[in-house]
Amino acid sequence: MRDAVGKLLLFGATGDLSQRMLLPSLYGLHADGLLPEGLTITGTARSPQSDDEFRAFTRKALDTFLPDDRKDEAAIEGFLARLQYQALDASTIEGFDDLAAKIGDVSGGLAIFLSTAPWLFGPTIKGLQSAGLAGDNVRIGLEKPLGKDLASSREINDIVAAAFPEERTFRIDHYLGKETVQNILALRFGNSMFEPIWNARGIDHVQITISETVGLEGRAGYYDEVGALRDMVQNHMLQLLALIAMEPPARFDGTAIRDEKVKVLRSLRPIPADEVPHVTVTGQYDAGAVKGEIVKSYDEELGKDSRTETFVALKAHVDNWRWQGVPFYLRTGKRMPERRSEIVIQFKPVPHSIFAERGGMLQPNVLAIRLQPEEYVRLLVMAKQPGLDREGVRLREVPLNLSLDTEFAGTRRRIAYERLLLDLIEGDPTLFVRRDEVEAQWQWIDQIRAGWKANDVKPKGYQSGSWGPSSSIALTERDGVTWNE
Ligand code: BG6
Repeated sequence: MRDAVGKLLLFGATGDLSQRMLLPSLYGLHADGLLPEGLTITGTARSPQSDDEFRAFTRKALDTFLPDDRKDEAAIEGFLARLQYQALDASTIEGFDDLAAKIGDVSGGLAIFLSTAPWLFGPTIKGLQSAGLAGDNVRIGLEKPLGKDLASSREINDIVAAAFPEERTFRIDHYLGKETVQNILALRFGNSMFEPIWNARGIDHVQITISETVGLEGRAGYYDEVGALRDMVQNHMLQLLALIAMEPPARFDGTAIRDEKVKVLRSLRPIPADEVPHVTVTGQYDAGAVKGEIVKSYDEELGKDSRTETFVALKAHVDNWRWQGVPFYLRTGKRMPERRSEIVIQFKPVPHSIFAERGGMLQPNVLAIRLQPEEYVRLLVMAKQPGLDREGVRLREVPLNLSLDTEFAGTRRRIAYERLLLDLIEGDPTLFVRRDEVEAQWQWIDQIRAGWKANDVKPKGYQSGSWGPSSSIALTERDGVTWNE
C-alpha cells in the first residue's frame, strides 16, 4: 500500500508531543501544500472537547511552538478547517464506534498515529479492530516507548501484529526523520572516496555523542522508569550506529536499507555480565550550572532518591569482517555543557610519516558529522604551515568544511516529524524501524541492563554542566582515545 490516505487519526492529540511536534509539523505540511487535498485530521484523547475547542487548542499550540515567520493566518485557518475531535477512553471498547462514526468513510485510507502508555496498546488495538478501523487500507504509526525490554516489546509487537501486518506498521524513531541523519546515507553512498576506507583498515574508532542541556522537562514519571540507556541508546544511538556501520544497500528503499541495518544490529558483540562494568559507565547529574544557570540535582528535581542513570557511555563492537577491532564509543546524557549530536570517525594514521625526521607531527584524519544544533560535515586534514621550515616542517590540522547550514541556507529545515508524518500518510516505510531491528536493539540493551543488575552498578554523580563522570573519560583513555569535545 503506497498511496496517500484520505484521513489521519491522532491519538494523544492534546498531549505534549502533539502540541510541540505533531500539530506544528502537520501545519507545516499543510502550509506548503504537501498534505493530500481533503485530508481530514481527527484528534482524540480522554478529555471531552468540541471540534471548535480542539481547533482553539491547536491554534494556541501553533502560536506557541511555530516560529513567527511560519505563521500565516490564511494557512492556519485552512489547517484548522481540516481538524475535528472525538473524546475517547481507550481503555474500554465502548467509545471506538463513536470514534469510527466521527471519522466517517475510511475507504480512501486511514493513517493512525499512536503514542500511548504501553498498557493501553492492547485495548486500543482491540478497539480499533472492533470498530472497523484496522482494515487493509489502514496503517498505523507507533511512537515510543515500545516496551521496556525485549519481552515487553515483543508483547506489544504481537498485539499490534494481530491487527496490522508489518507492512502497515510504521515504528517511529524521530532521529531518522532528521535531515542530517539522512545525509549520512548521501555522504557514504553518494561519494566514492569514503567507502574504500570505511572499514577496519581505514578507521581507528567511531564516537557517537548525543548531549543535552535539559533535565527532566516535566517527564519524571516516564524518565525515571527508563533512564538514558533505554531512552536514547536503545533507539536513536543504535540507529545512528547502524547507518554508519551498514553495508551499502542495493537500493534506497525500506527493504534494502532495513535489511542492512538489522544485520549490523545483530552483529553487535554480546557483552557478558562480568564485562559490562568495564565497558559501560553510568552517571546521574548532581546540582551545578548549565549555560550559566544554576540547576538542581536529578534527585531534587525528581523529589526522591533514584538510581536511574541520566548519563551513559559505552564501548561497543560490531563483529563482522568490515569492523573487526574497531571500537564504537557511545555517550549520551542530560545536563551536559551543550546540546550536541555528533558522529566522529577517527581514521587510522598514515602507515609511515615522511615528515618525522624534519620534526613534522601528523594527526590522523577525523571526519565529524554534526547533526545538531549546527549541521555540518567536517574533515580534518593535515596541511603545512606557511614558512621556510628552517626549524623543521610545521604541520597543522585544518578543516575541510561542508556547512550544510550555509550551503542550503535558503532551504527551511523541517521538524523531523514533518518528514515522518508525510511518509506515514503516503505509506513510505524507509525511515521507520522494522520489528526485527527493534528486537535486535532490545536484545543487546537487555544484556547490558542484566550486567548492571548482576554487578549492582549504581550511577556515579556528575556535576550538571560537565561531560559526565570522570570514569567515562577513563573508558576511552584506556584505549588511547579522547572524546571529541
Ligand atoms: C527523545 C527522548 O526520544 O529524544 C528525550 O525521549 C530526548 O529524552 C529527545 O530529549 C532528544 O531529541 P532531539 O531531537 O531533541 O535530539
